[in-house]
Amino acid sequence: MCGIVGYIGKKHSAPSFVVNGLKALEYRGYDSAGLVTVKDGRLLYQKNAGEVDNLAKELAGSGELDLSLVASLGLNSKAVKGALKKKLSRSSKELSKIFSPSQEKNKSSHISCGIGHTRWATHGRPTRKNAHPHTDSEEKIFVVCNGIIENYKELKAKLIEDGYKFVSDTDTEVVPHLIDSYLKGGEDFFKAFKAAVKELKGAYAIAAVYTGEPEVIYTARLSSPIVIGVGKGEHFIASDPSALINSTKKVVFLNDYEVAKITASKIHVETLDGGKTSKKEVVELDYEAEESDLGIFPHFMLKEIHEAPATIDSAVRGRVKPDINTIKLGGLESVKKKLTEIDRIIITACGTSYYAGLLGEYLIEEIAGIPVEVQLASEFKYRSEPFSDKTAIIAISQSGETADTIAAVKKMEEFGLLRLGIVNATGSTLARITDAGVYCHAGPEQSVASTKAFIAQVTVLTEIALHLSQGKSKLFSPMLKELWELPDKARETLKLEPQVKKLAERYSGMRDFLFIGRNYLYPCALEGALKLKEISYIHAEGCSAGEMKHGPLAMIDKNFPTVALACDGPLLDKTLSNVEEIKARKGPVIAIATKGNDSVKKLVDDVIYVPKTLEQLQPLLAVIVLQMFAYYVAVDKGLNVDRPRNLAKSVTVE
Ligand code: AGP
Repeated sequence: MCGIVGYIGKKHSAPSFVVNGLKALEYRGYDSAGLVTVKDGRLLYQKNAGEVDNLAKELAGSGELDLSLVASLGLNSKAVKGALKKKLSRSSKELSKIFSPSQEKNKSSHISCGIGHTRWATHGRPTRKNAHPHTDSEEKIFVVCNGIIENYKELKAKLIEDGYKFVSDTDTEVVPHLIDSYLKGGEDFFKAFKAAVKELKGAYAIAAVYTGEPEVIYTARLSSPIVIGVGKGEHFIASDPSALINSTKKVVFLNDYEVAKITASKIHVETLDGGKTSKKEVVELDYEAEESDLGIFPHFMLKEIHEAPATIDSAVRGRVKPDINTIKLGGLESVKKKLTEIDRIIITACGTSYYAGLLGEYLIEEIAGIPVEVQLASEFKYRSEPFSDKTAIIAISQSGETADTIAAVKKMEEFGLLRLGIVNATGSTLARITDAGVYCHAGPEQSVASTKAFIAQVTVLTEIALHLSQGKSKLFSPMLKELWELPDKARETLKLEPQVKKLAERYSGMRDFLFIGRNYLYPCALEGALKLKEISYIHAEGCSAGEMKHGPLAMIDKNFPTVALACDGPLLDKTLSNVEEIKARKGPVIAIATKGNDSVKKLVDDVIYVPKTLEQLQPLLAVIVLQMFAYYVAVDKGLNVDRPRNLAKSVTVE
């Protein structure tokens, strides 16, 4: 799950545009980065291990970046200035290489062209050598790749037989050598590029530049996302729009098996297999750039937790109409009739989206009375099970680019079943390959740990349950009213932050945590455990409270705290007796309970009171406390909250 950025045009300097774009895509992978650019016949090729800042520092040191960018990245330190002075003396000689005649032409056109990459290592450790771009031995073909080339070993063996030398441990390095082998076969570059891409198996998005044509970017897609930004006299490419939205909102999404040849003035897209030119729709992005800035917050995660009220509000606005006791989901209008015939729903997703799906199961079964199964997308793809044509699938994904979830939806294509999506990222693959769906409208989510997207997904699942009930459920009207009031209750819950922070700092030294809940609070407990795991690296397990005595209780002792979701409801007493079982084994217990219910306090070590709401909507408030708890534990441990180790925001490979 890497990030690719490219620029071609005169308005921007390619090195600065690419570095800025890579910063925006760093949530996709942040263990090494690199770029290659050509301007005025001069080639710049730089790659570094570590975050994009390391690359930027190096480039700033050699005066390659716009000073405004150097300042905005806080790189105009003494070190950079010192390096700048030292390097300026030798930069032109060392950094400018390979002057081919066509670059003479580039010398005059002042077109700046370049591609860059921020990496999440799959093959080969995160080192400078394995960082992208990879090149051929003459350093004339440069390639960046987001994804996995599954047949790289066979291709590499054949290329080595043909005398090619490899310098990295990556799968991607086969591509520049493969293209070179077709170039040597007399093909022009575009033909060589397509021929090479045709040999690749796996899930990838690739971009390439060739010093023989320094004013062209080539790109290809097979399942990993590539978006092309449309400008006046300039074009941009990126793995997702956040890297180019500051420059254009007009974008073209590349589909699977499509390749593109992009110059400053033209975008040519064709299909890989027939070379048929594809007529591409230019889509207008419907959100603002500034939505993806930190603002007053130290981390995107805290910013996005604080967006919970606005997130619920934008997920219900225009859809939930308690005044006329109606719910309207425009995204499902086109399949309204088909939906009335559905007698089974499969929800599929990964990670946090999967836990939102589990809540969807409870909501749809209780409110709409339709049987629901929730399946992990990575398992669902390879399972064989019977479907009737009255089965529908709901795929949930924040990014809309998660490979396992996309594969699960594609599997349903064969069965001709109704495929619905709940997606946050506008225009993403999942939004484009499903028959209909509901957008979350939560705005860009930058922090790897998903927070506001979960809240939006559960709100949308509640709306879908109400929609499918066609108003027949006794919960219909009370839920409509309560959904309308929920943003205020979320705001009230956020006011608990100082209390949660204190608690988190008191418990941040613990090595293990258990999260328990019953009914709607069980999936919420699972999500609470995932949040703590992924950003604090503490072992945490979510478990249904009733399941505890069947095993997990054995782990409990005075150093193994439990977070008990004990909000008011028909099962509260049962949960409290589970709490007493834990207390009997000296296990510390933190409870999340409903404001006004003092009975809980007596039984536990610490309690956080959330506003009262309907049992079905309690997870939307309780999870805000769990998100803040995980956040402050990670902050107290001094960890990189937005970029937890070993993870990436959207997992575009299986
Ligand atoms: C959640 O915090 C994680 N980032 C991860 O589990 C995520 O939910 C999962 O990868 C699914 O991503 P998606 O919603 O973009 O498909």
